Amino acid sequence: MAQFDVSRLNRIGVFTSGGDAPAMNAAIRAVVRTGIVRGKEVYGIYQGYTGLIQSHWEKMDLRSVANILQRGGTILKSGRCPEFLNPEVRKQAAENVRKAGIDALVCIGGDGSFKGAQSLWEEHKIPIVGLPGTIDNDINGTDMTIGFDTAVNTALDAIDRIRDTAASHDRLFIVEVMGRDSGFIAVHVALAGGAEEVFIPENLTQIDQAIESIKRGLQRGKTSSILVTAEGQKPGRAYDLAEAIRKKAGFEAKVCILGHVQRGGAPTAADRILASRLGAGAVDVLVNGQCDVMVGIHNGQYVTVPLKDSTKKKAFKDEDLLHLVKILAH
Ligand code: ADP
Ligand code: F6P
Repeated sequence: MAQFDVSRLNRIGVFTSGGDAPAMNAAIRAVVRTGIVRGKEVYGIYQGYTGLIQSHWEKMDLRSVANILQRGGTILKSGRCPEFLNPEVRKQAAENVRKAGIDALVCIGGDGSFKGAQSLWEEHKIPIVGLPGTIDNDINGTDMTIGFDTAVNTALDAIDRIRDTAASHDRLFIVEVMGRDSGFIAVHVALAGGAEEVFIPENLTQIDQAIESIKRGLQRGKTSSILVTAEGQKPGRAYDLAEAIRKKAGFEAKVCILGHVQRGGAPTAADRILASRLGAGAVDVLVNGQCDVMVGIHNGQYVTVPLKDSTKKKAFKDEDLLHLVKILAH
């Protein structure tokens, strides 16, 4: 774990980056309030890395983060900033940070955001700590990411509704949830929602296998079924699956793509608590002079993980959970 001279720590900057996630606001609130309680000034940086490039920030006080704990989205705004891949642009951002007297940063985002954070420390010695904020739960070194629990519950609420209409019309539905490279949302939603099959980016269930389970369901007297798929690299995969199933087996499926509805909404209690703990943890880590780490959660305790390890994507590997989806679909 990298160390920096903590006697120079007066001003902390916090920003959100990459895809937004429910409870990012709770994390911002925890960073701001813990920082101020510990005698530091805290600056809110707008629009992720774009804010660093454009020196777009403002000083926060205890009231700046009032009444945001329960709100989805991020009051600091988020975004993707392709310019930050350019080392010259990162140099400019680091100079801006130094000029403003910001001594350390907290980056709330996903693995891409952590790569940017890592380079700010490695190339320019800007002390930085990451907080895992993404609905995908695909960050190495933490059991849970901020926003995952809310996204699963939002998708589950939709599945429960779809099941009502699927059962009323004896229909087959394919529901597409988010998850670009990882199937955490899909498998958790499938298990909690009683889906017949789940398709994840790590391990594409064969169409034939899905058709077999629909047929087995029909033989056992099931009149409606729900399949869940992760969106993968681009939304719309559920339509391809529906078409393939129609061509191969003649089953007509209705498609429902949940999309960005999963990224919004009031965070669950679990997400608010996680974000609050990790946000406070990030400030503690900085106050102890440590940086170049992500603060995550493992077995109920907050842990620090080198940023270089956190940027290795976490794939969904729990075969037992996948198997359980199939067993319970009987
Ligand atoms: P997430 O943080 O949710 O994974 P992205 O992968 O889109 O989202 O990354 C968010 C931002 O982080 C990018 O738009 C870019 O500004 C920055 N970033 C991503 N990868 C790198 C990298 N290799 N080097 C520097 N910055 C990066
Ligand atoms: O990484 C979070 C995520 O919501 C993925 O699940 C999804 O594939 C992607 O972001 C969508 O990104 P965008 O909001 O840029 O369309």
